[in-house]
Formats: sequence, structure tokens, C-alpha cells
Amino acid sequence: MRVLVTGGAGFIGSHVVTALRERGHEAVVFDVREDPGADVRDPAAVRRALSGADAVCHQAAMVGLGDGVADAAEYVSHNDLGTAVLLAAMAEAGVRRLVLAGSMVVYGEGRYECPRHGVVRPGPRALADLRAGRFEPPCPACGADLLPGLVGEDAPTDPRNVYATTKLAQEHLAAAWARCTGGSAVSLRYHNVYGPGMPRDTPYAGVASFFRSALARGEAPRVYEDGRQRRDFVHVRDVAEANLAAVEASSPTGALTAYNTGSGDPHTVGEMARALAAAYGGPEPVVTGEFRLGDVRHITADSARLRDGLGWKPAVGFEEGMAEFARAGMRAA
Ligand SMILES: NC(=O)c1ccc[n+]([C@@H]2O[C@H](COP(=O)([O-])OP(=O)(O)OC[C@H]3O[C@@H](n4cnc5c(N)ncnc54)[C@H](O)[C@@H]3O)[C@@H](O)[C@H]2O)c1
Ligand SMILES: [Zn+2]
Repeated sequence: MRVLVTGGAGFIGSHVVTALRERGHEAVVFDVREDPGADVRDPAAVRRALSGADAVCHQAAMVGLGDGVADAAEYVSHNDLGTAVLLAAMAEAGVRRLVLAGSMVVYGEGRYECPRHGVVRPGPRALADLRAGRFEPPCPACGADLLPGLVGEDAPTDPRNVYATTKLAQEHLAAAWARCTGGSAVSLRYHNVYGPGMPRDTPYAGVASFFRSALARGEAPRVYEDGRQRRDFVHVRDVAEANLAAVEASSPTGALTAYNTGSGDPHTVGEMARALAAAYGGPEPVVTGEFRLGDVRHITADSARLRDGLGWKPAVGFEEGMAEFARAGMRAA
């Protein structure tokens, strides 16, 4: 197949390109980072790039936390206007297969259970609680301690910041496109992706990048909150394989299908910092109690739908992946 990979020069996109080519597909890179740059918001450029394409793997986006609103227009422009331009051009060109880089951020806080109230949905954590070091969100009904669980694709969406909002809007746009064109749209909701080629720390990078960059400077990774916040760290080569599986699959047409894309092996951020520091050879992480507004406490995936539906299986284990990442090259931001 000839596959247009938007964001194909980025961290995840470049691994997707490699996976496609290794499998004998033709991958066309489309990225502002390339020379000459190609912007998904430019209809003429997108139209040219789509010529002869069988599928689009849409990775291009402005990434990060988006915890303020100062850059809201930029996020909406790259992520949502960009997606809309791409989808309109695909409709025109008759390209009917889309795989979207989705994100777990669409869920907000993960899944929690209260012993008395069953599954509950805690709202954003109060500043006073965070300042007092009360990091666990309590049951919204009775205030009891909650048990975190695995979030499934049917969980209600609850984006907590501008970036998350734009990632959810991308899915809605893709669903509308699928309905209008009879195309198939798949959103792979990536959890915390890490691995070789991850950008060095910028305000937009993921936590694994912060820790790895600190170690490279000879500094201790600084772990926020109490370090017990749970995440699903999934290796970038496994994410690339998920894209390959989704590109090749015959997915339902006329609708968007969402798949959690996680390792299924949750770890705390503190564990991740320790594993990485140990593999790097020190220094030991420090737990600082600092916090960022807009961060959620726990978010871990149930990726059974992706395993069962697309036959995908993560191949890189946590220890092995972190050991490799400790030595791997990173991309200058
Ligand atoms: N890294 C993660 O943990 C993670 C988690 C969930 C979802 N995602 C999603 O995965 C995708 C890839 O993210 P990444 O981590 O590789 O980030 P990245 O910044 O390395 O890659 C994104 C690429 O998109 C390009 N791009 C941005 N705006 C563009 C535009 N308007 N036109 C053309 N190209 C443009 C950038 O130049 C960059 O190369 C994004 O859609 C992101 O939202 C990433
Ligand atoms: Zn309760």
C-alpha cells in the first residue's frame, strides 16, 4: 500500500514509517519538520501528497500538556484545522482509510471504583488538596479512597486541557468524515509512548523524556507528587506495529473505531524513574511533591480490544524497554 504518514518525521511517525517500509509498503512522509516543509493545513500540499495514496496515517499534531490557554489557537490550528483540511482532501481524492494518532488524554482521570458507589468519575483535583499533598482523588459522592482500574474505550471522554480537547475533536472530525464518505477511521489512543528518538525535554515532552534528559545532564530525575501515580508506558516500536496492524486491517466503515494502545503493564511514575536511573547508572530519582495543574492522577489502559480485534501484541517489556531507552539517542527538540 502507499501510505501517507503525516508527522512522519516526528518521534512516533518516524517509527511508523520504518515499520511500514519493513513490511514492504510505500510510506510518504509529510511533515513541517522536513525540508521543504509540508503543512497539513495547506490544502494544495495535502492534495498533492495524497495522489495515489491508499491510506493515511495521521500523526502530525502539536503535542504537550496545553495547560494554559495562551497557545490554544495554535493547538486548534495544527490539530483540528489540520485534520479538517486533511479529511476534506481525502474525501476529494477518494482515500477511504484513516488511522489517527489518538490519545489517552481524551479520558481525563482514569477509571476508579468506590467500595460503596461502584465506578465513579472524580473531577479535577482541588488546588488545596494538591498543596496539602493529598494527591489521590476522593470519591465524589462520599469522599472515600478509590481503587484505580483500567480504562476501556467505552469510558466517557473528559478532556482536561486544550491539547486533550483538540485530540478529542480530531476523533469527532474523523468520525464525521467516515460517516460522510463511507471510509474507515481508526483512532489508536496511545498511552505514554517512550523509546529511541524521543524528543529531549521541552515543556511539551513526556515524563520519560524529562527523566532521561535529567540523567543525561548528570541530575537526578525529579518525580512529581508522591511518585505513585500510575501510567501505562508503551514502547514506540509497539505503537508503530499497532499502526501497521490498523493500516492493514479491514476496519468497520462509516464509523470511527477507537483502540486503547497501551502495554497492559501499568507502572508508577516513581517506578519508571527508578528503572531508568538504574539502567543509566544513576543518580537516584528524588520525589519532590511538586505537581502540575491539569495532570491526572492515574490513567492506565485496557488494550484488550486492540489485541483481540487487530491481533496486536506488545513485544517490548518494561525493564527491557527502559534499559534500551537509558542508552538510546534522543532528538534535539
Ligand atoms: N508521545 C506520546 O506519548 C503520545 C501520546 C498520545 C498521543 N500522541 C500523538 O502521537 C502523534 C505523534 O506525536 P509524537 O510524540 O511523535 O510528537 P512529535 O512532535 O515528535 O511528532 C509530531 C510531528 O508532527 C509534525 N507536525 C506538527 N504540526 C504539523 C502540521 N501542521 N503539518 C505537518 N506536520 C506537523 C511535527 O513537525 C512533528 O514532526 C501526535 O498526534 C500526538 O498527539 C503522542
Ligand atoms: Zn463513594
